[in-house]
Amino acid sequence: MNRIAFITGATSGFGRACAHRFAEAGWSLVLSGRREERLAELREALEDKVPVHTAVLDVRDDAAVKAMVEALPDEFAGVTCLINNAGLALAPQPTQQVDLADWHTMIDTNVRGLANVTHALLPTLIEQGAGTSIINLGSVAGDTPYPGSHVYGATKAFVKQFSYNLRCDLLGTGVRVTDVAPGLSETEFTLVRTGGNQDAHDALYQGTTPLSAEDIAEQIFYVATLPAHININRMDVMPVRQAWAPFAIDRD
Ligand SMILES: NC(=O)c1ccc[n+]([C@@H]2O[C@H](COP(=O)([O-])OP(=O)(O)OC[C@H]3O[C@@H](n4cnc5c(N)ncnc54)[C@H](OP(=O)(O)O)[C@@H]3O)[C@@H](O)[C@H]2O)c1
Repeated sequence: MNRIAFITGATSGFGRACAHRFAEAGWSLVLSGRREERLAELREALEDKVPVHTAVLDVRDDAAVKAMVEALPDEFAGVTCLINNAGLALAPQPTQQVDLADWHTMIDTNVRGLANVTHALLPTLIEQGAGTSIINLGSVAGDTPYPGSHVYGATKAFVKQFSYNLRCDLLGTGVRVTDVAPGLSETEFTLVRTGGNQDAHDALYQGTTPLSAEDIAEQIFYVATLPAHININRMDVMPVRQAWAPFAIDRD
């Protein structure tokens, strides 16, 4: 099989680490994100090793997603692994203090965007058949509630259920689907969530050992390269130094 990975949100964090990890193993890459200069940097860093196609893409724009997939050069058209990674959390405040616009951005990116890309690539993946994968970036927030997670956690619950539901309909096609659900990981995620607050970023990761982007890229690579008859349904990955908290109780 000609191995081609299509990665959304390749300009940072897990997506960028996946680009490097898959390139190391000789996969062709289709890399997208909104920041053009970062895509250019990645292409420059990787194109000596493997064929790389980059495209500026906002996953929220369904027409742009469809057009981008339809315009893939022949060499990159037979995608065998979709890594639905583009996503974000916004507004760590309690739900009742959050702007509706932030809710909409999370839903549009993490739910609608992921659905847009999946819909556009499903025919290709089904055509490629056994051994192909859809790897969706969920989160531990998809099934563990915590303060300030509100719409973000709910979008990741969508990712989990959508991944499972896709498996039902893709039975018999050979296409695998996995919800990769990381816990605390140090990327640009917290900077985005806090509107660029470097102190908040530093405080969250200070004195502990979060997962790195490379840790998750390694797990994603593992999932994508398992023998074709194996499907990991969900991979829930946390740093050893993170666990769950007790129930919170309101008292008089
Ligand atoms: N870090 C964590 O603790 C953690 C834990 C669990 C799950 N996750 C999930 O993992 C995924 C990757 O996050 P990360 O931690 O690697 O964060 P990150 O470093 O902020 O990377 C997020 C990526 O998503 C892209 N993106 C955001 N909005 C987009 C849009 N509308 N269209 C296209 N691309 C968009 C960004 O690229 P551009 O800005 O260039 O578009 C960037 O490449 C997300 O789905 C996130 O929810 C993260």
